[in-house]
Amino acid sequence: MDKRKRKIKFSGIGMYVPEKILTNADLEKIVDTSDEWITSRSGIKERRILEDDKATSDMCIEAGRMALQDAGLKADEIDLIILATSTPDTIFPATACWVQKGLGAEYVPAFDLSAACSGFLYALIVAEGMIFSGNHKKILVIAAESLSKITNWKDRNTCVLFGDGAGAVVVEESFDESGMLSHYWGVDGNLTDLLLQPGGGSRIPLRPENIDQDLQYLHMKGNEVFKHAVKRMGEAALEAIELAGLKRSEVDYLFPHQANIRIIEATGRRLKLPPEKVFINIHKYGNMSCATIPIGIFESRRDGLFEKGDNLVLVAFGAGFTWASIVYRW
Ligand code: ACO
Repeated sequence: MDKRKRKIKFSGIGMYVPEKILTNADLEKIVDTSDEWITSRSGIKERRILEDDKATSDMCIEAGRMALQDAGLKADEIDLIILATSTPDTIFPATACWVQKGLGAEYVPAFDLSAACSGFLYALIVAEGMIFSGNHKKILVIAAESLSKITNWKDRNTCVLFGDGAGAVVVEESFDESGMLSHYWGVDGNLTDLLLQPGGGSRIPLRPENIDQDLQYLHMKGNEVFKHAVKRMGEAALEAIELAGLKRSEVDYLFPHQANIRIIEATGRRLKLPPEKVFINIHKYGNMSCATIPIGIFESRRDGLFEKGDNLVLVAFGAGFTWASIVYRW
C-alpha cells in the first residue's frame, strides 16, 4: 500500500509532431521491406520525421508552449524545466537550456534527464520529489525525441520502427483526489549492449574511423529487447497498481509505451484489460521513445477516452534497460 498522502497532478498538457509523414510505402523504396512486414511485426503504418534544419529543442518549445497555455501560465511562472530525451541537440549543454531560452523562462533552472523510452515517467517521478521537497511548485516536464536523426536509414531492422515527437505537461501539487498515486521504477544495467547509440560519447568519440562503422546510429537487438520489454512492462505495471493500493480490476485505462503493437497487447493481457482500455497510436507515429506516453495522454484527453476519477496506468520500458510505471487518478 502506498503511504503517500500528497500527490502531484497535470495542470496542462501539450504535444508536437513534425508535419512530414513517412509511410511504410515510402520505406519500401528505401530498404528491402514491405508494408505487410512492418504492420504485422510492429503495428506501425507511418511515422513523423523532423526537418533537417530542426532539432529536438524546436519540438520541445512547441509542446512546452502548448502545455503552459493549457495550464494558464506564462513561461516565467514555472520554476523548473525537466527535459527527458536521448536525442539531445548537443551532448552539452543540456537541450533544456535552449528550451528555457525559446520559451522565455528567464533564469528558470533546466536540465536533461536520460532514461530512453522510460524518460517521461522518470521525469515525473523526479518532479514529484522536487515538489514534495517544498522547493518547487510548478514544473514543466517535457519528453521529446528526434530518433530519425540517429537512425541508420540503410538498416531495415531499425529504420522502420522509429519516429519523432514531443509531449509536455505542467505538474503542480494536487489538492483533490486526482494525481499520481504511486510509482515503480528500475534499471537492469547488465543489458545495456542490446540497445544503444554506441558512438558520440566518451567511450567512442565521434572520429572518422568510428563514423565509417556506423557507430553514431542506434543499434538494437530487436528480438532480445522484445522479450525483456514484454516481461518488464507487465511486472512494472502490476507493481505500481499494488503500491497504489488498487486491485487490477480497478484499472480503467492503460498507457503502455508504444514500441510494438505485440508488446502493447501483451501488457494489456497481463492486466486483463479489454482492448478498448489500452491506448494505441503506434500506427500513426511509430516508436517516439519517451514522447509516446505524454502524446498519448494529450490525444486521449482530447478524444474523451477516459473520465474524471478513472485510474490510469502509465508504463514504459527502454534502453538501459530502464522501466517505470505510474498509477495516476484522472
Ligand atoms: N522488413 C523485412 N524484414 C525484416 C525487417 C524489415 N524491416 N527487419 C528485419 N527483418 C527480417 C530479419 O532480417 C529477420 O530475417 P531472417 O530470419 O532471415 O534473419 C526476420 O525479419 C525476423 O527478424 P526478428 O528481429 O526476429 O523479428 P521480430 O519478430 O523480433 O520483430 C522487431 C522485430 C519489430 C524489431 C521486434 O523485435 C521489436 O519490436 N522489438 C522490441 C523493440 C523495442 O521494444 N524497443 C524498446 C524501446 S526502443 C528505445 O528505447 C529507443
